[in-house]
Amino acid sequence: MIGICYPFEDQNIEVLRRLYKAKVLNNKTPTRRELLEFVNGCEVVVTMVSHKVDKDFLDACGDGLKLVANYAVGFNNIDLDTCQARGILVTNTPGILTEAVAEHIMALILCISRNVLAADDYVRRGMYHGWRPELFVGTGVMGQTIGIVGMGRIGKWTARFANALGMKIVYFSNERDEEIEVTTKAVFHKLETLLSMADFVSLSVPLNKETHKLIGKRELSMMKESAVLINTSRGEVVDQKALIKALKDGVIAGAGLDVFELEDKIDPQLLKLKNVVLTPHIASATKQARLEMSRILVKGIKEYFRGVKPKNLVLSN
Ligand code: DGY
Repeated sequence: MIGICYPFEDQNIEVLRRLYKAKVLNNKTPTRRELLEFVNGCEVVVTMVSHKVDKDFLDACGDGLKLVANYAVGFNNIDLDTCQARGILVTNTPGILTEAVAEHIMALILCISRNVLAADDYVRRGMYHGWRPELFVGTGVMGQTIGIVGMGRIGKWTARFANALGMKIVYFSNERDEEIEVTTKAVFHKLETLLSMADFVSLSVPLNKETHKLIGKRELSMMKESAVLINTSRGEVVDQKALIKALKDGVIAGAGLDVFELEDKIDPQLLKLKNVVLTPHIASATKQARLEMSRILVKGIKEYFRGVKPKNLVLSN
């Protein structure tokens, strides 16, 4: 039995129901109890970042669970150690939402640098009565420096877009990337130096033990007062309390956030801040990316049922 833990409206996932014995949890906001009851007896579960696949979840599935197919590139919601210990395979959907996320990073940067939200609000409130040179004068991004933290797939596309916009690029990553250095003139620096140089700091790292609260009070204090932090990775990569304080105290100028420490309970202080742009974890939300995500997810499940090792394995046992 495949347990599809969300009522996806998706042609690829629909195929699973035609080909295999599958059930769908027809509730977009189930209680934890409902979710755990639903997965009982499943051999395969289709999960998302909002599903905490921890010991309790895995216990609830029972001994027959063989594959967790996560509809996301990130897999920080899954207790990989326990899956490994129990011989459970884990797949994700890598490589196909890269451009979408990089586009959203640029959208947040441009939205902030050109005051798009405030200007939209101004027009809607009937305040606009003709062109004036002083209205919402922003800072063009051309010639500004973007600091990319994490030069993986998304970091690279961000660098390409930023390069096309005439931005200077500095980056910090576990490894240097010669191709991106050559094609975009990106310069590698240690994190502290990057923070002190960048006008925009964009985080594109997976959440893990090393990156948990990577950006805290100390790191924020190293950034320019005029700098903006962009986070489309995971909320917990930033110490959100420290960020809110830094935004209130003018330690940095602003933030563009697509992810939050508690995604189901956004800190109300963030909502009151005028110097932030907030989006609801939609960086990968393009029609193209969503279809590709489900295609890869379903391909992995089909491979599993054919007895072939899925290509999109995060964890193989
Ligand atoms: C991902 O795929 O990791 C995105 O954040 C959406 O979940």
